[in-house]
Amino acid sequence: MRFDSKVVWITGASSGIGKELAIQLSNLGATLILTSSNAVLLEILRSELQSTKIHVLTYDLFDLDGIPTLVEQALAFEGSIDYVIQSAGISQRAMAEDTDITVYKKLMDINYFAPLAITQAILPHFKMKNSGNITVISSIAGLIGFPLRTGYAASKHAVKGYFETLQCELYKTKTTISIVYPGRINTNISKNALIGNGQQFGLTDANNKVGMEVDVCARKIIRGIYKGKKTIIIVKAERILFWLWWFIPSLYYKIAHAKGLEN
Ligand SMILES: NC(=O)c1ccc[n+]([C@@H]2O[C@H](COP(=O)([O-])OP(=O)(O)OC[C@H]3O[C@@H](n4cnc5c(N)ncnc54)[C@H](OP(=O)(O)O)[C@@H]3O)[C@@H](O)[C@H]2O)c1
Repeated sequence: MRFDSKVVWITGASSGIGKELAIQLSNLGATLILTSSNAVLLEILRSELQSTKIHVLTYDLFDLDGIPTLVEQALAFEGSIDYVIQSAGISQRAMAEDTDITVYKKLMDINYFAPLAITQAILPHFKMKNSGNITVISSIAGLIGFPLRTGYAASKHAVKGYFETLQCELYKTKTTISIVYPGRINTNISKNALIGNGQQFGLTDANNKVGMEVDVCARKIIRGIYKGKKTIIIVKAERILFWLWWFIPSLYYKIAHAKGLEN
């Protein structure tokens, strides 16, 4: 499995899953475009990835209006892009009734509207060359609900709706969509999650601590994308929760309530 001569644009490349994808894809020969809002972290990563060509494109994805220009800038680096992996995202750690409406809007902007806007802007390029892959990192919370994540789960469910429908629309083209549904992965996701007033949670919670190692997760994502999978589910024990949700829902809600509120 090699990505030589492939151009891969990764959002959320400064941390966690996106950063690990950048490291592994660089080792596999890909030319990379790295995006996040933190220029310093991206430059440090660029200095560490010396085996392939790396472009840094710093951008705050809350600025939705500028995304069409951002996509033009990304395309200008190499004149073409083969893969867009959208990993930028923010979670939530607050009960529904404690969460301000502005936090719900922020979660929708970063997790749903930003990947949507990038996709809308890059699709004409992919359609023109009749190829290209758009991968979006959703979450198991994009399939089932889990406590303290009403806004996060809603945004990731929206991701599923948009990108699955797009998969249907693009069926006869060679542009592919991959939706990734990770369970708990050991990254800074809970530290960076928003609490009800919009501040950061700042802690690695119990669920995050027992998460899958991020290098294992990134390897599974890359293998899935390489094989052209439309759906990539990356879970360990969460598989049981999912099974319960389907076959014994009353037990699922009992366990999710207890596990989700344990911090
Ligand atoms: N870790 C898990 O357990 C888990 C499980 C399921 C799904 N996911 C999903 O996986 C993706 C990656 O999460 P992670 O675990 O790697 O979390 P992370 O370590 O907190 O990384 C989040 C990334 O998103 C970027 N980001 C956040 N706000 C941004 C903004 N306004 N503009 C540009 N970039 C922004 C961050 O970059 P800057 O802060 O530098 O801007 C960072 O690179 C997310 O979509 C998340 O929902 C994670």
